[in-house]
Amino acid sequence: MEPNMSPVKLLLSCLFFGEALALSGSFWHITDLHWDPTYKLTDNQELVCASSGKRPALSAGKFGDYVCDAPWHLINSSVYAMRRILPDPDFIVWTG
Ligand SMILES: *[C@@H]1O[C@H](CO)[C@@H](O)[C@H](O)[C@H]1NC(C)=O
Repeated sequence: MEPNMSPVKLLLSCLFFGEALALSGSFWHITDLHWDPTYKLTDNQELVCASSGKRPALSAGKFGDYVCDAPWHLINSSVYAMRRILPDPDFIVWTG
């Protein structure tokens, strides 16, 4: 906003800004998927995923483990959930 703006101009600016805010849409923002294709459930906790760097995956399950990047099952499940929740977004931002 301009410094020393007249009250009328300020009001009009606020109305315009309010109008702009009233426009709505929806989108998905996908980021940092970090797929680890080596992820597998195995009894050796150090061999669950390459991304753990041999740190033991203590709670490995089909949706992953804290020390591992994402297994396919998690990514696929997320994409299907996105489709169920909001199947037709205005756009998708994919970063990271
Ligand atoms: C992804 O998940 C859906 C829903 O559970 C399943 O039907 C589909 O087979 C899966 N696809 C792959 C490639 O894993």
